[in-house]
Amino acid sequence: MENLTYTHNAEAASVIARFYDSPPMAYVHSYGCQQNVNDGEKIRGVLLDTGFGICENVEQADLILFNTCAVREHAEQRVFGNVGALKKLKEKNPRLIIGICGCMAQQKHIVEKLRASYPYVDLVFGVDGIDRLPAMIAQRLQKGRRYLEDPRERNAVVEEMPIRRDSGFRAWLPIMYGCDNFCTYCIVPYVRGRERSRKPEHILAEFRDLVSKGYKEITLLGQNVNSYGKGLEEPMDFSDLLNLLCTVPGEYQIRFMTSHPKDASRKLIDTIAAQDHLCKHIHLPVQSGSNRLLQQMTRHYTVEQYLDLVGYARQKIPGVTFSSDIIVGFPGETEDDFQATLDLIEKVRYMQLFTFIYSKREGTRAARMPDPTTHAEKAARMDRLLKAQDAIAFPMVAAMAGQTVRVLAEAAGRNPGTINGRLDNNLVVEFPGQQDLIGQYVNVRLTGSRAALLTGEVAQSNRT
Ligand code: 5AD
Ligand code: SF4
Repeated sequence: MENLTYTHNAEAASVIARFYDSPPMAYVHSYGCQQNVNDGEKIRGVLLDTGFGICENVEQADLILFNTCAVREHAEQRVFGNVGALKKLKEKNPRLIIGICGCMAQQKHIVEKLRASYPYVDLVFGVDGIDRLPAMIAQRLQKGRRYLEDPRERNAVVEEMPIRRDSGFRAWLPIMYGCDNFCTYCIVPYVRGRERSRKPEHILAEFRDLVSKGYKEITLLGQNVNSYGKGLEEPMDFSDLLNLLCTVPGEYQIRFMTSHPKDASRKLIDTIAAQDHLCKHIHLPVQSGSNRLLQQMTRHYTVEQYLDLVGYARQKIPGVTFSSDIIVGFPGETEDDFQATLDLIEKVRYMQLFTFIYSKREGTRAARMPDPTTHAEKAARMDRLLKAQDAIAFPMVAAMAGQTVRVLAEAAGRNPGTINGRLDNNLVVEFPGQQDLIGQYVNVRLTGSRAALLTGEVAQSNRT
């Protein structure tokens, strides 16, 4: 694997500067997961480094970039719909550059479709093209021709990329890229390539920088953070990395995602228990409660092993909460399989569930499995799952009333004059407060709840 360092492309910047009378504006929109959102922040950083300004409105843009997601078909359809809507803008302004990048652009059939049916899309590149973006734009401007890259895999990590972060108090920090798991339903290993861990010293330097800039919540990202460290020169696992980061002094909390249950170790649980900076909440996607389906998905754990880990965490980390991803309607899912998922969520009692109806992804192994269940049946199962989850979570949320908790104030609440704060366990509380609290820790006394949303008030201890 190659370790590269970003360098400013002065030549491309001067081509771009010569082409426009005033600094050109770029509109960048990211779809999908946090990894992709973080890529979008880097795209903005690279564009600023090359002489672009950033705008929040497509009408003002000289360059429109959609940083796309491929995980489910619905995400892809949305992108095609949104790109189609740009055709009119391009007719009004033929100099407008429209680009598609990210996970969708890593699939050959998508690039072919863009080439054949979307002639007004000028720029296409995959997940590893961000550092080369200035050169691509320069080429597009100089040659006046579309620049569409065929999907390719680049076994590299590029450090010191410029970045324009969306938030001043919450940051994403990728610790690894790619995925080697090949769960049978998932497109990610095909689009994001092989697993590559960043060196601990690079992660630590970025982490220190974030803490020194006052970031309060840092979320470590990877498709499977628990396999961090494979292939590094010096042996180090994810728990070692967490312990290293927690040596940095400051007022911050660390979250991480995603933890694959097959590699979530007791050492990791012990680390979460021991370190005050680590949130006492674990996102541990189970996908299904049926051992038969877990095997079909090649998840490499059983329900019993999963429950064992949850039990160990509950014993070691007082008050720990869990969230999970679940796929409904995997090919061949029977009523019994689905019932096993309902049984599992009753046993674990997740605070939050992220649920998805199975989406067939071309090129994956599950796409070739027989899938006789109708969409209507899958949708009905999803409905049952959501109702069962609400019946579990709402009383758990309501039972928190009376506690005083530290929250990170993150945004204005829905009701005027209120603020939303996020708890350690990822729940949100709405409380009366001023905008200037946003980005700070606040102690909040929980007074009640509406569905999954807590309500509260600033605790007296804050007012002194
Ligand atoms: N269909 C539906 N859901 C999927 N996920 C991944 N691939 C698919 C698919 N083909 C879900 C998984 C994963 C989450 C990020 O997206 O639950 O954990
Ligand atoms: Fe993220 Fe996966 Fe979607 Fe790519 S396909 S944006 S890695 S969720």
